[in-house]
Amino acid sequence: MIYFDNSATTKPYEEVLESFIKVSRDFYGNPSSLHGFGAKADQLLQHARKQTAEIMGVHPSEIYFTSGGTEGNNLAIKGAAVQHASKGRHIVTSQIEHPSVIEACEELEKQGFSVDYLPVKSDGSVDIEDVKRAVRNETILVSLMHVNNEVGTIQPIKEIGKWLSKHSQALFHVDYVQGCGKIPLSFEEGFIDLCTVSGHKIHGLKGTGFLYIKSGVQITPLFSGGNQESKMRSGTENTAGMVAFAKALRMTEEKRKTSIKHLWYLRNYLYNEILQIQGTVMNTPIDGAAPHIINFSIPGVKGEVLVHALEQVNIFVSTTSACSSRQKKTSRTLTSMGIPREQAEGSIRVSLSYGNSVAEAERFVSAMRNIAEQLSKVIRRSK
Ligand SMILES: Cc1ncc(COP(=O)(O)O)c(C=O)c1O
Repeated sequence: MIYFDNSATTKPYEEVLESFIKVSRDFYGNPSSLHGFGAKADQLLQHARKQTAEIMGVHPSEIYFTSGGTEGNNLAIKGAAVQHASKGRHIVTSQIEHPSVIEACEELEKQGFSVDYLPVKSDGSVDIEDVKRAVRNETILVSLMHVNNEVGTIQPIKEIGKWLSKHSQALFHVDYVQGCGKIPLSFEEGFIDLCTVSGHKIHGLKGTGFLYIKSGVQITPLFSGGNQESKMRSGTENTAGMVAFAKALRMTEEKRKTSIKHLWYLRNYLYNEILQIQGTVMNTPIDGAAPHIINFSIPGVKGEVLVHALEQVNIFVSTTSACSSRQKKTSRTLTSMGIPREQAEGSIRVSLSYGNSVAEAERFVSAMRNIAEQLSKVIRRSK
């Protein structure tokens, strides 16, 4: 099988699975227990936190383990809103955020917050001038993603963070779920206060991740309970999951250092070859996008038809994001980029990981060529 759906989720590394099993089997104590067996689990948890912090270039006390991207985004956004409501009730985000950001903001709107959903340019990027215009005295939070999960566009996080740090009291939250392991991001240089990462997008396990909360930044926890994770995230810690997470992060970072050129090679090869297939149109911009996501369309052919045609030859891709694909809605990201409806409905997303090979990319291109040819005959006949 050719797995080109790595933005939906990645295959856990073998070593990650082994760590998870070992810790689950041998160190299943509760990190909060008073006895030594619990203390051992706590040591492992703190070691995973230290390793994670080192890789991200931050202090261990700034890493709060969560169940992944959705929780991290909800905690950052709702936690910041509740904590700082007395200073202002205005939030700025964009139209192309993940549903865990957009819908968290929509919920806050119902509670009396006002939210600006910034438009994007035709390449999917937010215009910093729009951020400057939207931010006002009552703005308490700006939440933007680093790499878009559907088209791969990279947002100008550093520039926006720098401007915010000089001109606003608003906290800056970044959804780094798709960028992590592919495009380095300095939290310090981006003046980032809150940052979300998810384990299963970097060959870790589902239900793992962290929220970075910059030292001194206050947000209100979402969960009530046993006050774990320095009171920020109640619930018995997933020690094995977090040990596995730290391993996945380390291994992915090593891969990035040794294999990023390979990923770019695959991406550029696929980009150029797909463009030459009759009837295809690119939705991912040629520049300013991450090396692992290519979104394209065959207008007039529904994306799901392409997904299933590829599945017939054992190639797995997505229409839009995994969570939106079952809802059969036209992609909000693509429509916000000004892509016509027919083109947006015909889009598919190919998403790569370091483990994909040139041979797989070649097989994909050849399969796609055949499918496009067959479909063009059907379309001609039906006209
Ligand atoms: C950009 C982005 N943010 C957040 C999430 C949610 O992450 P999780 O699946 O870990 O909840 C995803 C998952 O697709 C994503 O792509």
